[in-house]
Amino acid sequence: MDAVLAELPDAALKVVRRRGIASLFPPQEQAVRAGLFRGRSLLLSTGTASGKSFLAELLLISAAVDWGVKGILAVPLRSLAYERAGSLRMNSDLGFEVAVSTGEYDSLDGRLGRSDIMVVTYEKLDSVLRRRPRWLSSVGVLVVDELHYINDPKRGPTIEASILRARAALGDVQVLGLSATLSNAGELADWLGAGLVASDWRPVPLREGVYVRGRITFADGEVRALDVRGGPVESLVRDTVASGGQALVFASTRASAVNLAQRISAALGDLCDPPLDVAKEVESSSPSRSLGEKLAQAVRRCVAFHHAGLDMNTRNVVERGFRSGSIRAVVATTTLAAGLNLPARRVIVAEHKRYEPGLGWEDIPVSDYKQMAGRAGRPGLDDIGEAILVASDGREAGYLFERYINGVPEPVRSKMFLGHVMRAQALSAVASGYARTVDEVEWFFRRSLAYGQSASAHRDSALRSRVLDVIEELGRNGFVELQGDYVYPTPLGRRVNELYLDPDTAGRYLAMTRSLGDGYLEHYVFIVVSSDEVPKLRFRRGSDKWVQRVAARLLGDLGIECGDYECEVEAMSAVKTAVALGDWADEVPEDALMQRYDLAPGDLKMYSDLFDWLGRAAARLADYLGLEQHALGFETARLRIMYGVREELVELVQLPGVGRVRARSLYNAGFRTLDDVASASVRDLAAVRGIGDSLARSIIEEARRLLDAGSRRATVRLRRIGVGVLGDP
Ligand SMILES: Nc1ncnc2c1ncn2[C@@H]1O[C@H](COP(=O)(O)OP(=O)(O)O)[C@@H](O)[C@H]1O
Ligand SMILES: [Mg+2]
Repeated sequence: MDAVLAELPDAALKVVRRRGIASLFPPQEQAVRAGLFRGRSLLLSTGTASGKSFLAELLLISAAVDWGVKGILAVPLRSLAYERAGSLRMNSDLGFEVAVSTGEYDSLDGRLGRSDIMVVTYEKLDSVLRRRPRWLSSVGVLVVDELHYINDPKRGPTIEASILRARAALGDVQVLGLSATLSNAGELADWLGAGLVASDWRPVPLREGVYVRGRITFADGEVRALDVRGGPVESLVRDTVASGGQALVFASTRASAVNLAQRISAALGDLCDPPLDVAKEVESSSPSRSLGEKLAQAVRRCVAFHHAGLDMNTRNVVERGFRSGSIRAVVATTTLAAGLNLPARRVIVAEHKRYEPGLGWEDIPVSDYKQMAGRAGRPGLDDIGEAILVASDGREAGYLFERYINGVPEPVRSKMFLGHVMRAQALSAVASGYARTVDEVEWFFRRSLAYGQSASAHRDSALRSRVLDVIEELGRNGFVELQGDYVYPTPLGRRVNELYLDPDTAGRYLAMTRSLGDGYLEHYVFIVVSSDEVPKLRFRRGSDKWVQRVAARLLGDLGIECGDYECEVEAMSAVKTAVALGDWADEVPEDALMQRYDLAPGDLKMYSDLFDWLGRAAARLADYLGLEQHALGFETARLRIMYGVREELVELVQLPGVGRVRARSLYNAGFRTLDDVASASVRDLAAVRGIGDSLARSIIEEARRLLDAGSRRATVRLRRIGVGVLGDP
């Protein structure tokens, strides 16, 4: 046997054998030699598809089976978490259990504690480490995938703080960091206290080039002329498909992704064998008919677009169609590059600029380009992968070459010392018991990557004074109390930390809730939406005049006065978002929401998840203030936005398989409560529009189960008290 394979623990070796893998990839071998299976912490900075995630799987399985310790795998996206968990579970007969948990705030800790391997999002990891359940002490391995996310202003500090907390709570935990694009890997490895495995090796070699006026110039000097048909992207895709390959195109906005997909589909013509079954599937899976039709039309010509506006199911249909080869080209937005695991022979970067709110059109970062380029070349299918940037003229071609192909990714920089981040992290350090004194808070920050990256000679005194400022501010807002050197969390501070809320957001929610008189849905939705965690719809001064009218009333009710332009634009965007979500909660159809607000199914899902977390948190804060009416108002808003229904349907949508449309049909047919459904006959239910025999059977059963479990309590309470909701009949 291979000498390196012989170093693998039994369970890992079994998994390798089952996959039919004869030898490890060179970077994997390096990692094994560096001591991955001897408990050594490592940072793997190696290419896309060089086997990082698979190696992490081997480590987690060995930890569970051979060493008897728990492992945690943290990933950036929910969809990735489920994918990884599925892959791990294929080997669970070796004797381990896998749990997935991805909500910022959910109560699955019990199940997590009973499992051996936990697959979580960064936010979930953070929230678990804040709550410090007892089982945490049996965690021996922590894997952080896509570690370059530390650079992200929103999520970076979450990852960084989690790693700090994990090392504080679990002294000798083995940390494995993974990333494909790091130019300062050494610095990160030092900070992690980990060995570094760095390599450029790829299973399929990559050629990079720039396209301009009918010709591709590759980095190695080769120039290739193409048969030009239509625009550059169409020609590049046709060229790939004509020789039996598939193409992945990156565009910078949703609209442009759709537009490019349409143009490519017009150009593929004879090269496409129409996958009608996939097109049908797209049409039936998309909650928005207009979006589904647009997509299906492209799919019938072997092309698809893929962006965050699509719901999860439809994205999955597209991904499957591409993997099976019936879809020959996918146009995706750059924001999705990280999550997509869809390699293709040719990656085309159609647009290298992206709109950044407040900044305008900016060049995308080099690291984003490298991430996209890394998707080129399907192992086993392509001998070589190509990444092509599209330029409009010779000058731009030169620029793109210099900046992207010859460029190195931006170094990962910690965002831990940003003001609001320090407030949030200081509070959570104190409230979760990671720090009890000013000195200990300072120590917490001193172990951060940010500290290592701040070069100033006075960084110690600067840090000290900033920590003092932050604690004082938290004290002024009632989250902590200072007694001598000791910092204590107040009950409010503890609650904010448990709710996984940013103290700035909590402060805002508290202030607005206090000044609210009679509350209607729009008030509660606006308050929740007004936090920085919630992305807003874009306010357009010209066409959105109506927003200003609504805002005048809403802001007045909440005692908000804007002094400057920035505050006003932000408030208008929040009002527009709140009104759009109010429509959703009034059962306005998905197509109309798309038309009126450009609000797509994928967005609705995002808002639904955010409300599950933030709506609940706002309700608890209202409870804390003793304002029960408002607590119920937030709770109602949470449920209505989660499901997109009026209040009277909140009970029915708890049934699996029953969304807003079916719930409305049931309600209108006289089945208005879980009791009604539980006591109905299969025949009567099946007669309701959109409900067949088998669904009728399963929801009757489910309704009985829910009633037994008593989970009706919350909704019944809502009904009894009767929260006033604007727009309800
Ligand atoms: N040693 C190996 N031999 C053959 N295939 C492998 C090996 N290691 C990983 N793979 C496969 O290669 C693909 C890319 O691996 P993955 O772990 O996802 O890479 P990365 O996380 O570095 O992008 C996966 O399909 C994986 O199963
Ligand atoms: Mg990976």
